[in-house]
Order: sequence, then C-alpha cells, then structure tokens
Amino acid sequence: MLGKLYDRALDGERCWIRHADGHVQRLPVHSWLGGPRADAVFDRAVVGLCSGPTIDLGCGPGRLVARLVQRGVPALGIDQSATAVELARRSGAPALRRDVFAPLPGTGRWQTVLLADGNVGLGGDPWRVLQRAGELLRLGGRCIAEFDSAVRGVEAGWVRLESSRTIGPWFRWASVGIDCVTRLAEDVGLVVADIHPIGGRVVASLTLG
Ligand SMILES: C[S@@+](CC[C@H](N)C(=O)[O-])C[C@H]1O[C@@H](n2cnc3c(N)ncnc32)[C@H](O)[C@@H]1O
Repeated sequence: MLGKLYDRALDGERCWIRHADGHVQRLPVHSWLGGPRADAVFDRAVVGLCSGPTIDLGCGPGRLVARLVQRGVPALGIDQSATAVELARRSGAPALRRDVFAPLPGTGRWQTVLLADGNVGLGGDPWRVLQRAGELLRLGGRCIAEFDSAVRGVEAGWVRLESSRTIGPWFRWASVGIDCVTRLAEDVGLVVADIHPIGGRVVASLTLG
C-alpha cells in the first residue's frame, strides 16, 4: 500500500507524507535506515524490551531485527516492501516479504511481537493490528508496541507519499495515542503490563489476557 515511492525513499529519494487535510510531514527514512541519524536511545531501549523469539511487523530495512540478532535474540522481520526486505537481509536481519495479515511462520508461538515506529497504526486500524499481534503470540508472550504521546485517541485517515517527481496512492494510516492503550488492548484481549516512556516516545508492553 505504501507503493513504489516508499521503495524509492529507501533508495534516497526525498519524500514526504501528505495527510488528507493537506498538511505534510517529513518521512523519517534516516531513522528507519539506522546509522548516525537514527534514534539510538530508542532503538537500544526497545531492543532491550524484546526477549525470546521476536517478530517485527512492518520491519522496514530491519534495523531493530539486525540489532536483536546481534544480541543473540532469534528475530524475523516482516515487510511488504521488496526494497525494505532486501536492505534488511543485507544488514544481517532475517526478513520475509509478506503482508502482516497473511499467514506467517510461527503463528501462536512468538514470545515477542514488535510494532515500532507507529506501526500499530498500519492500515488505519489499530484494533486489527493488535488483534494480529495477539494471534502471533504464545501464551505468556508480549507485544511491544510504540504509541504516540502527542495524539489523543485514534486519529485515522488517508495519507500518501509524495516527492518532487511522483505522487503515490492514498492509503489508510492511524496515529494512536497512548491515552487509549488500555481500551484498545482490552478490546482485542490484551492487557497493558507496562508503559515505557523513552525520551519523547512511548512504548507499551501488552500481554495476552
Ligand atoms: C512506518 S514504516 C516502519 C519502519 C520500520 N519499523 C523501520 O524500522 O524501518 C512502516 C513499514 O510497514 C510496512 N508495511 C505497511 N503495511 C504493511 C503490511 N500490511 N504488511 C507488511 N508490511 C507493511 C511498510 O512497507 C513499512 O516498511
């Protein structure tokens, strides 16, 4: 759904996100790619919250999966972008090119499901994303999901990627406030075990209820 422009953004083309109301946001590609401009404090903290076999849904170029593997944590990244999966594999991160809602290996057996960089809002439907995380988890497993500390409730809408040369297709995305984590988790049979503020960002640790 992010389309070819996302692949080109990963290849270095300068892109931005346009929201349906017209406002635009920088696409944080440098942070996704890791390296000196990434949020190293956040990445280190999130990786420290993952234990046991970990699946990263919407892993992008796989910086978190690569770090997990380096720490000896078995990890797999899932992403629908061919370029993201290629970059992930090149950095030593095992990754599969799949839709996170399609059949995935190890369903019901993962110890940790990771949803970083706002991926709880994939497809504009955090309920569907968290339900999917719950299906992938084993009993006693945890979903480590980043929420938005500046947003209230669920702000779902249409967005598209743009560059100076191309305009991508509209797709659904949601920004999900940490204020509604308890309600969202309850709705899909998860329980909030912990909230971890990390710098200006926030991650929730959710267990199977
Ligand atoms: C906001 S970016 C997150 C980047 C990523 N966590 C990282 O560290 O680079 C969202 C990612 O989710 C992927 N994605 C979006 N919808 C997906 C889906 N239904 N199945 C698999 N991947 C998806 C996109 O291709 C993109 O790489």
